[in-house]
Order: sequence, then C-alpha cells, then structure tokens
Amino acid sequence: MPLLEITGLTQRFGGLQALSNFSCCLEERELAGLIGPNGAGKTTVFNIVSGFYKPTEGSIVFNGKRINGLKPHQVTAMGMARTFQNIRLWNTMTVLDNIRLARYAWLNYGFLSAVLRTGRYRRAEKAIETKAREVLEIMELTEYAEEFPKNLPYGLQRRVEMARALAGNPRLLLLDEPAAGLNSADVEGLIRHIRWIYDEFKISIWMIEHQMKVVMSLCRRLAVIDFGCTIAEGTPEEIRRDPDVIRAYLGDGAL
Ligand SMILES: Nc1ncnc2c1ncn2[C@@H]1O[C@H](COP(=O)(O)OP(=O)(O)OP(=O)(O)O)[C@@H](O)[C@H]1O
Ligand SMILES: [Mg+2]
Repeated sequence: MPLLEITGLTQRFGGLQALSNFSCCLEERELAGLIGPNGAGKTTVFNIVSGFYKPTEGSIVFNGKRINGLKPHQVTAMGMARTFQNIRLWNTMTVLDNIRLARYAWLNYGFLSAVLRTGRYRRAEKAIETKAREVLEIMELTEYAEEFPKNLPYGLQRRVEMARALAGNPRLLLLDEPAAGLNSADVEGLIRHIRWIYDEFKISIWMIEHQMKVVMSLCRRLAVIDFGCTIAEGTPEEIRRDPDVIRAYLGDGAL
C-alpha cells in the first residue's frame, strides 16, 4: 500500500483549471520530486494534500485513510508536515519557540490549550523542550535558538522551517521549493541536510523544486507536471532525456 495515493485530482479556481485529473503515488521511504514550469499546479497539489485547499474532484489517501476535506492541523496530526514556498515562520517568537510551539501543536492540536498551559502541558513541557533542542541540534541550528527568524539569513530561515516541520515527527515531509532564494553554498548545505533528514528520520520526502541540481541529486523518482497534468514520470535520468519534458520545461540546453 502506498503511503500517499492521489487519484484524479482536479482543482478549479473560478474559470481556471489548475489541476486536471492529476494522479500520483508515493511509497513509504521514498524521496521523490515534483517539477514543472511556473504555474503548472505543483503548489496546488501540496495545498490540497496538506488540507489547505479542498479539491474540486479526486481522492487523497494517506497511510490508508482518505484525507479529503480534513483541516491542515488534522493532516499534520496524521503524520504529514510541510514547508512553504514563501517562508511562514512566527517572526515574533524565537527559533526555539517556533519549534516548541510546533511540537505543542502536534501533541494536541489545540493551539489555545498550548498557550493556556494547563497542568498536562506543564508536565509535558520538559519533554517538548528536550525534543525541540534535539531537532535544532540535528539541523545545526543550536546557536540560533534564541534569535528571531526574521533576523536570520534566508538560508537559515529555510532550515528553521524544516526543523519546525520535523518537530511533529512526520512520516511524510513535503518541501515546496526548499532551494528558492539560496546561494550555491547554501544549496550544498540544503542537499546535505535533506539527505541527512531522510537517512536519520527514516521518513518519506516529496519535494517541489526548480533547481535541477537539487532534485537530480536527491530524488530517485520524479513526476513532471504541466498545465495541471502529468506529462512524465521516471528516474532523473529518464526525465532528463524525455522529449516532452525538454520541450515543456527543461529546454534543449538545460542539462
Ligand atoms: N488560491 C488560488 N486562487 C486562484 N488561483 C490560484 C490559487 N492558487 C493557485 N492558483 C493558480 O493555479 C495555477 C497553479 O498555481 P500553483 O501555485 O500551483 O503553480 P506552481 O506550479 O506551484 O508554480 P510556481 O513554480 O510558480 O510556484 C496558477 O495559474 C495560479 O495562479
Ligand atoms: Mg509553487
């Protein structure tokens, strides 16, 4: 049974058809990529899968359960975490508090209860702090624990966002353009961190990414989407040579 099974997904926004009968599967422990031109519908797939959009048609089964129509926090609680194309961190809180709050939210998805600090949360607090610091350590962020995300360079903010996603022990991590806006040194670091997360946490990762270096070096399997439809699926090698993909996305001299 696949970890994630998307079948016949269609999404309309008014007159615009962002996805047309899109289907895709992700197995347990896969590290796969979703690529394609701007506006192809990639983020829309992630927004539907993670509960931010309700699809016009189609079905999403995660870990054997149909998750259509669930709210984002319910999907998170089932073991799916994500990052955003435009970083969404809580800028008025420190890096450590960003991770802690994500952990609170995952343990009991009542954000309010976490803030109100009932007896149960006080008891859990120490464990949460320990886990948060552990994630920071793994992501090489310990020295920034007391900083505010907005004061950090972009590459570090992206890493904090990944750390926050990991705070909830996900089985599946969705990364929406993790390399966007990074310089080449940061991209090298990012590849290292993603590989590390994949090996250490033993999870599945599905990423959207325009930087071919990142997807080609990390992903074993890629799906290519154009105008809301899958135009190719295969290994990075197959995708690199696929005439439809070259025509629609990569261009002749791309690789
Ligand atoms: N909430 C929305 N309301 C209306 N249109 C939307 C909405 N979200 C996405 N779209 C449209 O759906 C299409 C697909 O957008 P999407 O963000 O999924 O593309 P993408 O493949 O992620 O592109 P990019 O590589 O630029 O991030 C675009 O035409 C976009 O303008
Ligand atoms: Mg996008």
